[in-house]
Amino acid sequence: MSTGSVTTAIRGHYESQGSADQLLADIDDPDLNIGPALDQFHVGGAKATHRLLAEVELPAGSHVLDVGSGLGGPARLLAGSRKWRVTGIDLSPEFCRIATALSVRADMTAQTAFSAGDAVRLPFPDGVFDAVWTEHVAMNIGARDDLYRELARVVRRGGLLAIYDVVAGENTTPLTFPVPWARDAEHSHLVTAEMLRERVSGAGWVARVWNDESIFARDWLANMGAPKAPAGPSLRHVMGDDFPAMTGNLRDNFADGRLGAVQAVFEKNT
Ligand SMILES: C[S@@+](CC[C@H](N)C(=O)[O-])C[C@H]1O[C@@H](n2cnc3c(N)ncnc32)[C@H](O)[C@@H]1O
Repeated sequence: MSTGSVTTAIRGHYESQGSADQLLADIDDPDLNIGPALDQFHVGGAKATHRLLAEVELPAGSHVLDVGSGLGGPARLLAGSRKWRVTGIDLSPEFCRIATALSVRADMTAQTAFSAGDAVRLPFPDGVFDAVWTEHVAMNIGARDDLYRELARVVRRGGLLAIYDVVAGENTTPLTFPVPWARDAEHSHLVTAEMLRERVSGAGWVARVWNDESIFARDWLANMGAPKAPAGPSLRHVMGDDFPAMTGNLRDNFADGRLGAVQAVFEKNT
């Protein structure tokens, strides 16, 4: 597949089923309860974003790029907790529209902004960000060397890269699909934790923090319970009716060690 058709297929995976117009109307309704079930699109929800945040030292006013920002939950959490300015970029223009609407609702448009673009060809000049943040995105990206070089390009010298990613586990039995980032093996690009560390380091980054989050992720999924009818919009409204099957498979893949999770912070040394 060409690069263009790969990104179109990934966009199709995320945008295929949900009703964006209904969701945008719901976001405009001040009486509707909207919480992290909608906008924290990764294992562990807001708690996982806080766990990574606890590992990152950056002063207020820093400019952070959230790569694969999804519906903007992590970006708003970072901006709100640390007074950073957060720019989000995501392959899906629809997700960027929803993320922007959620920031309008949260009165956070001065601190957060979202636009569509590809993580391996970022529309930003060299060295403009203090840090890059990315949660649960690289599993969709096969060109890892290009990705981590491109993230290094847009960060200033001494800047940071914070990662929270799913990785291939020690059990090499094939994954059960669909999972939240792919409906089939063709669009899932997992690497092992060791390979992840090698790929990022090879692109000019030095590891400062490296934590295995597999147990945290496995237990969070195991304790999630059966999906309840959500009080307000949730990721099911975005991803479609197979989203419970995706999270069920994710839980099972983690439970028997086919998947793991890593949290890491790197520093740019060139
Ligand atoms: C599982 S969601 C995670 C969203 C967000 N980081 C979060 O944790 O809430 C993965 C996101 O990565 C985006 N994505 C996948 N490949 C991408 C790429 N090459 N460039 C930019 N975004 C990408 C998808 O559109 C989707 O919004």
